Amino acid sequence: MEELVLRARDGDLDAYARLVRRFREIALDQARRITGDYHRAEDAVQEAFVENDAQQCGFCTPGFVVACTSVLDKNPDATLEEAQAGCGGNLCRCGTYVGMNQALMDAAKSLKGGA
Ligand code: FES
Repeated sequence: MEELVLRARDGDLDAYARLVRRFREIALDQARRITGDYHRAEDAVQEAFVENDAQQCGFCTPGFVVACTSVLDKNPDATLEEAQAGCGGNLCRCGTYVGMNQALMDAAKSLKGGA
């Protein structure tokens, strides 16, 4: 790649075009990697919420799912306390916290390759 950069710097348009394509491929790979991990966490959290009956009226559920996903995406080894802190600011008027806590731990376990 260094040779391409040098050739592009010297005005080689073919090298410049190949360099642009290479950077684009790198950027797309990064985007796929990042969103792939995020979607994997989101799927695990949603599934765990359903399995643990972690919703009642569902009003708070989207916010909790997004917050839980963000916590586990950043730190799949988050403890329950860290995950709860990451979900701070979200309130459930129906009081489904027991199910949500279990869903959080199940999703974390699932992301680590557990059942
Ligand atoms: S499930 Fe009703 S507010 Fe959370």
